[in-house]
Amino acid sequence: MGLRQSGVAAMTRTPDHTAPSRALHVITWGCQMNVYDSARMGDVLRPLGYQPVDTPDTADMIILNTCHIRDRAAEKVFSELGRLRLIKEARKAEGQQTIIAVAGCVAQAEGQEILARAPYVDIVLGPQTYHRLPEMVARAARAGRAVIETDFPAEQKFDFLPEAEAPQTPGNYTAFLTIQEGCDKFCSFCVVPYTRGAESSRTVQSVLAEARRMADSGVREISLLGQNVNAYHGEGPDGTVWDLTRLAYALADIPGLTRIRYTTSHPRDMNDALIAAHRDLPALMPFLHLPVQSGSDRILRAMNRGHTADEYRDLVRRLRAARPDLALSSDFIIGHPGETEEDFEATMQLVRDVGFALAYSFKYSPRPGTPAAGAPLQVPEDVKDARLQALQKLLREQQDAFNASMVGKTVPVLFTGKGRKPGQITGRSPWLQPVHVIGPDHLIGQTVPVHITERLTNSLGGLLEEENVYA
Ligand code: 5AD
Ligand code: SF4
Repeated sequence: MGLRQSGVAAMTRTPDHTAPSRALHVITWGCQMNVYDSARMGDVLRPLGYQPVDTPDTADMIILNTCHIRDRAAEKVFSELGRLRLIKEARKAEGQQTIIAVAGCVAQAEGQEILARAPYVDIVLGPQTYHRLPEMVARAARAGRAVIETDFPAEQKFDFLPEAEAPQTPGNYTAFLTIQEGCDKFCSFCVVPYTRGAESSRTVQSVLAEARRMADSGVREISLLGQNVNAYHGEGPDGTVWDLTRLAYALADIPGLTRIRYTTSHPRDMNDALIAAHRDLPALMPFLHLPVQSGSDRILRAMNRGHTADEYRDLVRRLRAARPDLALSSDFIIGHPGETEEDFEATMQLVRDVGFALAYSFKYSPRPGTPAAGAPLQVPEDVKDARLQALQKLLREQQDAFNASMVGKTVPVLFTGKGRKPGQITGRSPWLQPVHVIGPDHLIGQTVPVHITERLTNSLGGLLEEENVYA
């Protein structure tokens, strides 16, 4: 299960008050795990004097952290590299050096191609090797030629990374924490098992230690990340293997941590204990990203998903029985090879039956080296377009209806920062909806009941019930 995509984000931590000895700019594409990885690359480079800056123009080192999940990933990378090359040349003319590193899943999949086509790139590194970045920087400087590290090392990078720097800037009340990585499920369409490697889980101790540091620095809500997060099986302090449920209970005991989310889950790994935790553990938020990809049994089989549409419906029924206010989100792929009109209609029917609060839907995009890429019966683009439009219309209606159903209710909102309008503060509902109210700044960082009065395009507006603190 790939993680949800998050668009472009740069590291925006404020530099120290002392002038940075070396400036680092990280460009992040792709999922939340890439956002997490980018922050950790910053942690690894900090002892070398690198401090994050917001623009590439003045950076001594630029990391492009890439995503390979869909579309013309490699072309996008080469076009961005063309832009970075100009910056590197302009700085060189002024006698300054710029190290360009390409990281992430495109680097993993197309490392050699990158070095061949963009010889001004200094370092190419895959998602499992960035703990070795300081050594790569030194080697690139020493050898004066490019360094490539795209193997899957025997060691786990998490055992070698420095402690994650706790978010320092006010406003970081929510944080991502990677607990599991990689995938052994080999869905027909997906590149993740090839780019992120085999499934592996971090130890319980390292996860809890990082979560404690986050909570100590003010984080109230943690989103646990993993390509198959609910397959988590980390070694516990007692030598036994802990599953996600046990980990969630331990996290909920950390003072200050009031909200726990996890993403992305595979339907096959949703077990009874985890379903029961949604009933019994208040810190587990009632919102679950549980991608189904298709509603047709034939296509689910072709995708190698390992479950039927009815098994998914049944799973949703059990989840909602445990936690009646649970909202679901999903990913869908339209136009997987072999998808007929009838298969597509089965997907529409599943959407109607389940009702999603949020969803991400994509046209199937062949990934080189994956089984579906070479499959017969590829669906023409115009057919994919038409089906995607119909699906997105239905999903949009469901999302709007879900958000509209909040109006008139009082919901706990974790305020995370100031809003755009004067006097406004903004936060998130348990269902991930942004909520804006007029209210005092001192509520930022707290969870407070809000009476929802209106549905805006992608958010909700409300009134503070009282300045009563939930937790
Ligand atoms: N084409 C289109 N969408 C894809 N996804 C993964 N691989 C592909 C592909 N080849 C989608 C899936 C996954 C999400 C992160 O991206 O829906 O859940
Ligand atoms: Fe998710 Fe399947 Fe890709 Fe694994 S192979 S990351 S389960 S979509």
